[in-house]
Amino acid sequence: MKKRLLTGLQPSGELTIGNYCGGIKQVVNYQDEYDTFLFVPDMHSITVPQDPDTLHRRVREIVGMYLACGVSGTENHIYVQSEIPEHANLSWILECNSYMGEMSRMTQFKAKTEGKKEIGCGLFTYPILMAADILIYNANYVPTGADQKQHVELARNLAQRFNSKYGETFVVPEPLIPEVGAKIRDLLDPTKKMSKSAENPRASVFLTDPEKTIRKKIMGAVTDSGEGVVFDEENKPGVSNLLTIYASFSGCTIPEAEKHFEGARYGDLKKEVAEVLVVFLTDLQDRFAEIMKSGIVDETLDSGRDRARAIAAQTYDLARRRVGLGRV
Ligand code: TYM
Repeated sequence: MKKRLLTGLQPSGELTIGNYCGGIKQVVNYQDEYDTFLFVPDMHSITVPQDPDTLHRRVREIVGMYLACGVSGTENHIYVQSEIPEHANLSWILECNSYMGEMSRMTQFKAKTEGKKEIGCGLFTYPILMAADILIYNANYVPTGADQKQHVELARNLAQRFNSKYGETFVVPEPLIPEVGAKIRDLLDPTKKMSKSAENPRASVFLTDPEKTIRKKIMGAVTDSGEGVVFDEENKPGVSNLLTIYASFSGCTIPEAEKHFEGARYGDLKKEVAEVLVVFLTDLQDRFAEIMKSGIVDETLDSGRDRARAIAAQTYDLARRRVGLGRV
């Protein structure tokens, strides 16, 4: 039997090239090798305020993007988290087996709540729901960017704790972090990661950006003092980020990218990065537009939901029996 691979991208904003590199690209590369689960974690998105109509729209658009990127909707399980209630049910069981201390150590929680007065409880317990998303399908591998590694580690800890407390129930998952592109950085402040929800849209390239915008954003990216296109994340974070984007989208390694740009100036680097992005993204956007016009997104989600739910229901049933919920 094939091992299982699972990941999800929140519909909390327009997807960025960072989301593509950390999440979708790995799924595209691995989908033939593994039994693949790719879902839309919409319940995660309401941990912060969302406009309901926008959220509904984005759920379908994210799936359109998965398909446009080349993820097969018939071979894999593609579904919406909130349409499978066993995620939340299992999350509650896991929550009752988690500690305030370990949750307080989640760096993303600390970053998202820094300086905020009113902090939603959902934001605090969100990594437990993420653990439930993974464990309910007994996923072996979880491809993500570097920012989600700590959350996957929590999922591992919760699985191990549950198994030793109640008996073997869950597979202990492993994170799959890409060698190149695990953390695409903000174009205006390369000390930060590129984000869907950046305050300034010029800091991120979105998968739906038109050609002109892509070129403008890349040409406006912050570079570093000195010359020389070399990969040095500490002293040249801006240039290293552009090299990473180039390598990710042209399919080469970082040393190969450095060799390609030997003797080049920062302006040449930017022009070529913009060019690879434009070629890749305009093609992607054409496929996306076709997909959104067809009825394929809903067909994919209906069939994905039914197939995924049958698996989730089995795992949940075992977990609730293990802890003594309901009737035997
Ligand atoms: P999210 O929606 O923030 O991000 C989706 C994926 O994109 C990756 N990513 C990046 N990779 C490289 N560079 C960046 N700048 C960058 N920004 C984001 C993320 O690491 C992620 O792989 N909690 C998750 C969603 C989730 C999930 C899950 C993922 C919910 N349940 C179960 C895996 C398994 C999140 O907020 O990702």
